[in-house]
Amino acid sequence: MALVNRKIGYDEVETRDIKFKMDASKVSKHWFANDPWNTHFMNGIFAAVPDGERWVMQSVRKQLDSLTDPAIRKAGIEFIHQERIHAREHDIMNKACIEHGIPLDVIENNFKKVRVFLQKHLSDSAQGAVGAAFEHFTATIASVLIEHPEVFEDTNPELLGMLYWHFVEETEHKSVSFDVFTDATGAGTKSYLMRVSAMAAAGVVGGFVFVVPFGYLLYKDKQLTNFASAKRFFRTQFTNPGVLTKLGKMYFPFFRRDFHPWDDDNRAVIHAWKKEYNKSGDTTKAFHALCDWLAENKGLELPKQQGSVHALAV
Ligand SMILES: [Fe+2]
Ligand SMILES: [Fe+2]
Repeated sequence: MALVNRKIGYDEVETRDIKFKMDASKVSKHWFANDPWNTHFMNGIFAAVPDGERWVMQSVRKQLDSLTDPAIRKAGIEFIHQERIHAREHDIMNKACIEHGIPLDVIENNFKKVRVFLQKHLSDSAQGAVGAAFEHFTATIASVLIEHPEVFEDTNPELLGMLYWHFVEETEHKSVSFDVFTDATGAGTKSYLMRVSAMAAAGVVGGFVFVVPFGYLLYKDKQLTNFASAKRFFRTQFTNPGVLTKLGKMYFPFFRRDFHPWDDDNRAVIHAWKKEYNKSGDTTKAFHALCDWLAENKGLELPKQQGSVHALAV
């Protein structure tokens, strides 16, 4: 399966240099559905996004000269462009959170220290393997949230436009760092062992990246005892729709020898977004089109409250 899928997706990767102009009025203190726990869970991840994406970008750039396949090289260059723009826009979003008194800068600085240490001590190939693991996480988070926009009920429409642009592009390039690493390291047993070791380590480190900043932000925002929000968080992440549960299920296939990111071919849903974006150049309208596609093809039922994603999708 992996060999068949290896070539798909390269023609999907396309740079869109969009300036979203996020600020504290669009990114509210509890921007994720007015819910502190879900917001701070995502904030903890987003704090690592700009620096993490620049790291993966630099890693792909270093591997470009070792590539044998020109199609992978071309996709690698588009990948670098996309991640550069994602990092820029998420820096602005994180700054808006900091303006609300949420100390994302503390998490960013700690993540940066770890990144600098790893960048200094790991070989280029090992960093390539870490990049492939990192991108598997971002692609799986994106794939779950793309199919469940209902979790963002009452979230700012322009912010949703930005987030779904990022989720779509993470999906477009989900195989690129994997294929760059595999091609650059020769696709043999050593390459396989490096990528699964990196993923095993990333699973442990990822656990800390999920849990420690999350607890810290809840504490700083005095939300640790907000039990209503905690209940909503556990429902969203573990049962309905179960973002983390689905993420957990998508973690283990990466360890298969013949795994490839496009084994999960979810191009149809991003095509609905792209079709509308190519027509209107509007990420909010493109988000509506994605919701419509999900309602028609996956039976998605959107909330009915004013200002909800349902109001956006009609
Ligand atoms: Fe990204
Ligand atoms: Fe990415």
